[in-house]
Amino acid sequence: MRVSTILAALSATSLVAAHPGLSRRQDEVSDTPAAPEPTELPEVPETPEEPEVTEPAEPEPTEPAEPAEPVGPSPFEGRKLYANPDWSDKLEETYAAFEAAGDEKNAARVRTIQDIGTFVWITTRAGLAGIDTAIERARAIQEETGEDHIVGLVLYNLPDRDCSGLESGGELSSDENGLEIYKEEFIKPYAEKVGAASDLTFAIVLEPDSLGNAITNSAIEFCANATPLYEEGIAFAISELQFDHVHLYIDAAHGGWLGWQDNLEPTAKEFAKVLALAGEGKRIRGFATNVSNYNPFNATVRENYTEYSPSWDENHYALSLAPFLEAEGLPSQFIIDQGRVALPGAREEWGEWCNVAPAGFGAAPGSSTGNNTHIDSLVWIKPGGESDGECGMEGAPRAGAWFDEYVQMLVENAEPSLFGEEPAEPAPEEPAPEEPTPEEPAPEEPAPEEPAPEEP
Ligand SMILES: *[C@@H]1O[C@H](CO)[C@@H](O)[C@H](O)[C@H]1NC(C)=O
Ligand SMILES: *[C@@H]1O[C@H](CO)[C@@H](O)[C@H](O)[C@H]1NC(C)=O
Ligand SMILES: *[C@@H]1O[C@H](CO)[C@@H](O)[C@H](O)[C@H]1NC(C)=O
Ligand SMILES: *[C@@H]1O[C@H](CO)[C@@H](O)[C@H](O)[C@H]1NC(C)=O
Repeated sequence: MRVSTILAALSATSLVAAHPGLSRRQDEVSDTPAAPEPTELPEVPETPEEPEVTEPAEPEPTEPAEPAEPVGPSPFEGRKLYANPDWSDKLEETYAAFEAAGDEKNAARVRTIQDIGTFVWITTRAGLAGIDTAIERARAIQEETGEDHIVGLVLYNLPDRDCSGLESGGELSSDENGLEIYKEEFIKPYAEKVGAASDLTFAIVLEPDSLGNAITNSAIEFCANATPLYEEGIAFAISELQFDHVHLYIDAAHGGWLGWQDNLEPTAKEFAKVLALAGEGKRIRGFATNVSNYNPFNATVRENYTEYSPSWDENHYALSLAPFLEAEGLPSQFIIDQGRVALPGAREEWGEWCNVAPAGFGAAPGSSTGNNTHIDSLVWIKPGGESDGECGMEGAPRAGAWFDEYVQMLVENAEPSLFGEEPAEPAPEEPAPEEPTPEEPAPEEPAPEEPAPEEP
């Protein structure tokens, strides 16, 4: 498929820097509250101490370093992630199916899941009304419960969207003045709406799947052409969305895509470039990973296809990428989508992204991330239930359509801690492979995500 082009793109960027930021990061970033300062970059060594190419398969990729101090408290701390009633309503069908089958246990689990916060996808100009709806409802819940809420939004409407997959192409095209329309008719009203709702807190994920393509898919002509638009569009969004109650997370794809050792430094440099473009003093809170993908946070079993990657689950991906971000003067905080998690052995290749089975709902937003202080929160960004397309599990409907059999499976295989249950079997981690190979496998294809329809 597209692996050969991705591989070609990869070989162009194969210089490996040896974690330039590791020893310095604590003193340099600890007191900057998530404010990337593109103008005062720390001294990045021009010549990495060990420009060796065998680094990719670090014999012990488990602990890149001790985590840095968090840069200011996570905005998720002490706040409940807004639960989207539109999604909860769709789960009524799932509840009814379990009831009809006399499966009380799973019916009860659906009730728990319906109250879990998920992100609201805003993916068209018409869909901007979805922000008003979310604000109105979150405000009502906040007043009613007295509990502070954080509203999760995804901002997803770049011109020439999904340049490598073309599965999730959007309404805007560069041929038709898409970038100007994006700025004027999408970003500006978006910013006006969230900016005005300062009684709430927002976490906004910026443009899933976009900069990942800029980093690894420049061999695809459409992506090469789209890259400057992506960069300018995201930079504009960042500059317009500067509010104290709004926390921005740039999408950083997932460990199976950008987590390969050779991709980490180019990834950090690309993000630094976009931040610089946004303008001096413009801030983001961090990065979002695994949006609409299926990687576990803590893999209980290390899959064979992750063998040569230091980023074999999303916990490790954050730890692998963090020092490179810090070397660029960027924040190194993450939110990680656990809305759907593949069970061990579900995928033969990391690149499988479509209605992967078996899978389950992952750990709840706010679940423990152990001692990884780079994680602001586990979250559910992609609400399980909308089909990824007519592929993967049998009977899958077109992309975006509700796939109730799939959701039933997600409930049956859900992370037991969601319901206060004990884990089924605490499978020990498999040891990391010992033998490095100079040849690195290609990163897998991006997982195109299907946004939820924004309005009922
Ligand atoms: C984090 O936890 C892991 C085990 O879960 C441990 O091996 C590691 O030493 C810990 N790191 C720090 C900095 O505490
Ligand atoms: C994974 O690798 C191990 C050791 O090389 C092998 O025994 C096992 O069969 C592989 N698993 C799969 C699913 O290919
Ligand atoms: C990635 O997301 C999938 C589905 O959203 C989830 O199953 C998996 O646990 C996530 N992995 C990480 C590391 O967040
Ligand atoms: C991940 O692993 C850490 C350390 O073993 C643990 O403390 C944490 O609860 C785990 N989190 C999840 C979501 O599995």
